[in-house]
Amino acid sequence: MNNFKFWSPTEFVFGKNSVKNTAPLIKKYGGTKVLVHYGGQSAIKSGLLAEVERYLQNEFIEYVKLGGVQPNPVDTLVYEGIEICRKECVNFILAIGGGSVIDSAKAIAAGVPYTGDFWNFFERTVSINRALPVATILTIPAAGSEGSDSMVITKTRGALKRGAGSPLIRPVFAILDPVLTFTLPANQTAYGLADMMSHVMERYFTQTTGVEITDRLCEATLLTIINEGPKVIREPENYDARANIMWAGTVAHTGFCGVGREEDWATHGLEHELSALYGVAHGAGLAVLFPAWMQYVYRFGIDRFVLFATRVWNIEHSGDKKEVALKGIRALKDFFSSIGLPVNFKQLGAKASDIDRLIETLKINSGGKLGAFYPLNMEDARRIYEMAAME
Ligand code: NZQ
Ligand code: ZN
Repeated sequence: MNNFKFWSPTEFVFGKNSVKNTAPLIKKYGGTKVLVHYGGQSAIKSGLLAEVERYLQNEFIEYVKLGGVQPNPVDTLVYEGIEICRKECVNFILAIGGGSVIDSAKAIAAGVPYTGDFWNFFERTVSINRALPVATILTIPAAGSEGSDSMVITKTRGALKRGAGSPLIRPVFAILDPVLTFTLPANQTAYGLADMMSHVMERYFTQTTGVEITDRLCEATLLTIINEGPKVIREPENYDARANIMWAGTVAHTGFCGVGREEDWATHGLEHELSALYGVAHGAGLAVLFPAWMQYVYRFGIDRFVLFATRVWNIEHSGDKKEVALKGIRALKDFFSSIGLPVNFKQLGAKASDIDRLIETLKINSGGKLGAFYPLNMEDARRIYEMAAME
């Protein structure tokens, strides 16, 4: 196991009616003027936004609102948010929504106290030294941004989708009420399941040895998602299934499952190009690319793929490692299909003829190399896109 430092200061408040804690928590973390940031429709339609406004008004907490965050959030709204916060002397950001809203909120939070262009954080030319406190009321379990130290934003010009991170952007608190997720349609629920599974798998597939504790945490999280996932699709209002999935999404990406081991993240890098080019949901792109990545790299660490097949998918060890490894990959793909996810370019709406374009931007965004389990160059990346396009 590698040395590590792990700091995860987020206060998680979980359960039915936990939204009632919003105002006291904002006060606890020093918020006196709040930017309430939200997405397109869902928080308005469900009444959640109005409910939160009532709580703020009752406690005399001043606020301004900025809605309209789109899935795969863009830089233009971040600039707008930074300007509003400066003009209105906002000192706290509350994100109501999923990964897209939270990431947009994080980028605004880091951008407000910084005098330069916030995109520099994504160019990695400067690091984040200060940020306004961010908090969230989560409405979709998926990206894990409610507990993570990262954010992903797309620069509209050039369609560059990039990540940046800092411990300073971890939310100070996250309210998780599984009831809020009852309204999620089956497709959004499934995208979320694919994303959280991917967050675990990016960590599970490592060459670091002697990491039994995180191996087992990863396996338990995957098994939970595999068991509870189909239930939330079948029974959207099953509280316990929604609750388990909601917490699984957080556990998958706080960093807890990856400490002490080298993580991979190549598939996320490959996927960001698909969501940047086609605007597809992140989880849908991952469902297409993860099995393809696996099929390409399993030869470079077959024992780990045998573990994945036998421990996660309960596949019997026949003695032939290759056969077992491939059965595990097949099982993952079948699972994705069974919950209605796309598993190839065609089902996703991507085109093999765009692979050159994908590689072009991937090269800019990754510097030509990505991943750690088996470090990929651009030729490897091309083969993986081709495999995903062929299936
Ligand atoms: O915009 P509204 O109307 O709110 O609709 C949203 C959106 O269309 C809808 N939705 C959310 N909660 C709902 C609901 N619909 C009905 N009922 C509810 N309760 O769901 C749609 C998707 O929302 P979005 O926030 O885009 O989903 P997700 O949480 O999957 O976030 C995806 C973004 O997170 C990034 C992705 O790249 C993508 O941009 N990621 C962020 C990470 C991080 N910060 O740590 C890590 C991830 O790997 C990921 O890359
Ligand atoms: Zn993800």
